[in-house]
Amino acid sequence: MKTAALIVFAGRLASAFPGMRELKSRAAGLESRGTNEMIGDLLTLPDDKLTPTGAQIKALLSGKDQPEGSLDVYLGVPAKDTPECKADTCCIWKHIADDMSSKMKDSIAGCNSLARQCVRLGFHDAGSFSKNAGSTGGATGHTVLARECYDRPINRGLPSVCDQMTAWHEQYKQYGVSMADLIQFAANVATVTCPLGPRVRSFVGRKDNPAPGPENTLPQPTQNADELINLFADKTISPDELVALVGAHTTATQHFFDQRRAGSPLDTTPGVWDVRFYGQVRQPIGPAMITKFPSDVALSQDSRTRGTWDGFTGVITSQLPWNLAYARAYIRLSMLGVNNINELQECTKALPSRLDSFLPTDKLDFELLSKNDPPRENMTASG
Ligand code: HEM
Repeated sequence: MKTAALIVFAGRLASAFPGMRELKSRAAGLESRGTNEMIGDLLTLPDDKLTPTGAQIKALLSGKDQPEGSLDVYLGVPAKDTPECKADTCCIWKHIADDMSSKMKDSIAGCNSLARQCVRLGFHDAGSFSKNAGSTGGATGHTVLARECYDRPINRGLPSVCDQMTAWHEQYKQYGVSMADLIQFAANVATVTCPLGPRVRSFVGRKDNPAPGPENTLPQPTQNADELINLFADKTISPDELVALVGAHTTATQHFFDQRRAGSPLDTTPGVWDVRFYGQVRQPIGPAMITKFPSDVALSQDSRTRGTWDGFTGVITSQLPWNLAYARAYIRLSMLGVNNINELQECTKALPSRLDSFLPTDKLDFELLSKNDPPRENMTASG
């Protein structure tokens, strides 16, 4: 470890931070730029038929509730396989979250390759949704269940996390856990396991659909801003929400976009959920260790997305606004294609706590960073 200074982020310093009020109002401004469009069964259910959780999710999708659940902790977790554990849906999810999180940590860099792949898999399963694709696609587990992980070039880099997801499903399906929930829950466990990552409010009860999802509904790194904005609009995701979601590339590496640089990260701290990605994509040159996708550069420059992108580039001031914007947009993403939203239950309390401090890794050598990242499967690169 070349750098040893401990950076403590806003969460703990909140009260001592002089610009906190301004920061909160910026956060509210950036976070509230969503579509508010209803999805799934919430499209047709009248308010008087909503369960308390259904009503909360509706409020979250309309930007009227807090998308992060920082204080919702699980005290006195019953042991697995006890009647007490059976009596609380979230109990098994707490055991699952602990199991997942223990495998997602890197003692030097923050969160590891499994965490990164879980975030990407959560996006690929839910993000396959298209308003025009009928009843397939969305957060229904199809990416693993229909073996798209292994068969579709867009999922290059994901087979090993799909193997892990299958193993977890084998282990936990006896408790009534769906693949669709496992994938979305793992994405949120990964996000909060990465230092500085938000604790995205998490819901369970999705139904699996083993039918293959639609093709050509996921973005390519060579697409321009117009194509990307239209693609995400078809998922009810606004340009601002797209900018917030793509910030997940803060904890990303690439193995197939440019195979000569396989393993190179998309920002200098791929183990930390910080905002460096936004600023570094904006820099005309360097840093040398990172790879920039044309799609990310396009979104950072287009007149419809540049303003929000710039709003996320302040290393200290943008973290809170971005975390809230990401959490809100990810809740929407994780509900796409789910037609029983009104039956879901909230299990945010089962997630690990947020890590508000970290040892910065931006001075780490590329070799050291990728040391613990096993080689990906040998598939052909195609863009
Ligand atoms: C404009 C939209 C997007 C495009 C074009 C895109 C494209 C890509 C590509 C090409 C890779 C590298 C694959 C490889 O070569 O190994 C990647 C990695 C990744 N993407 Fe995206 N992505 C987009 C949006 C998102 C979103 C919305 C999320 C999450 C919410 C996400 C999460 C990730 C993560 C975490 C990785 C790193 C995976 C790893 O290191 O194993 N991406 N993305």
